[in-house]
Amino acid sequence: MSVHASTKRLTATDIAARKGGDPIVSLTAYHAHTAAIADKYVDFLLVGDSLGMVMHGFETTLPVPLDLMIMHGRAVMRGAKHALVVVDMPFGSYEESPAQAFHNAAKVIKDTQCGAIKLEGGRRMGETIRFLTERGIPVMAHIGLTPQSINTLGGFRTQGRTHAEWAAIEEDARVVAEAGAFSVVLEALAEPLAAKITKTIPIPTIGIGASAACDGQILVMEDMLGLSPRVPKFVKEFGEVGKAIERAISSYAADVRSRSFPEPANTYDVKD
Ligand code: KIV
Repeated sequence: MSVHASTKRLTATDIAARKGGDPIVSLTAYHAHTAAIADKYVDFLLVGDSLGMVMHGFETTLPVPLDLMIMHGRAVMRGAKHALVVVDMPFGSYEESPAQAFHNAAKVIKDTQCGAIKLEGGRRMGETIRFLTERGIPVMAHIGLTPQSINTLGGFRTQGRTHAEWAAIEEDARVVAEAGAFSVVLEALAEPLAAKITKTIPIPTIGIGASAACDGQILVMEDMLGLSPRVPKFVKEFGEVGKAIERAISSYAADVRSRSFPEPANTYDVKD
């Protein structure tokens, strides 16, 4: 007889069922301990390839390798027990063909045991999304500002500010939903367009800089904690963790220099 854990982990199907319901709460996460804290409050955690920028100091997400996503994905899975964990497919790991995407997405799922993957792109990824979902891999799509295309987009800027841009982005949303994506990230979309897409498509929209009209929201955890050196203007900083770290490190340095630290270690017991 098998014994089930008391907390059931959310699935891609659970997230899809939240369309039009209570707002879906999500954050990025890259390591076990912050994932464990966030797990109490979020519906899903995204191991985003933004980890290349906020944790590893790259200028863009482009250099991030698949192995790094898997390593962080495994850490987040160890920390989070309730939230669905979604792992981003990094640049170059899925665009070439549906077969390439399946090969690498299957590796991500096997090695991390996460519940879904995310990939960037609208119409151009329709065939790949269908290929993956038909073979058992839940896919979260990502349209609007897609950071892996930064070199062709020409910079980070809001998408859909003029009506002329709307049709293509609406078509992206329609195609990824029809191809079987269980939800779609709308990044940096003008509010009326995000609202229109959210009303039109049958899967939840997850906004980042795309207004409260979306079915759910995501932020990069380091950005909302006040830990990233460069934060987009639309991000509300809910914490001042960067400043708290600096205060702690400067106090530590001062204590060491004045020889007022440490106390001798009479025991290695851990604190309560
Ligand atoms: O990589 C990431 O963190 C993302 C979010 C911005 C949605 O894709």
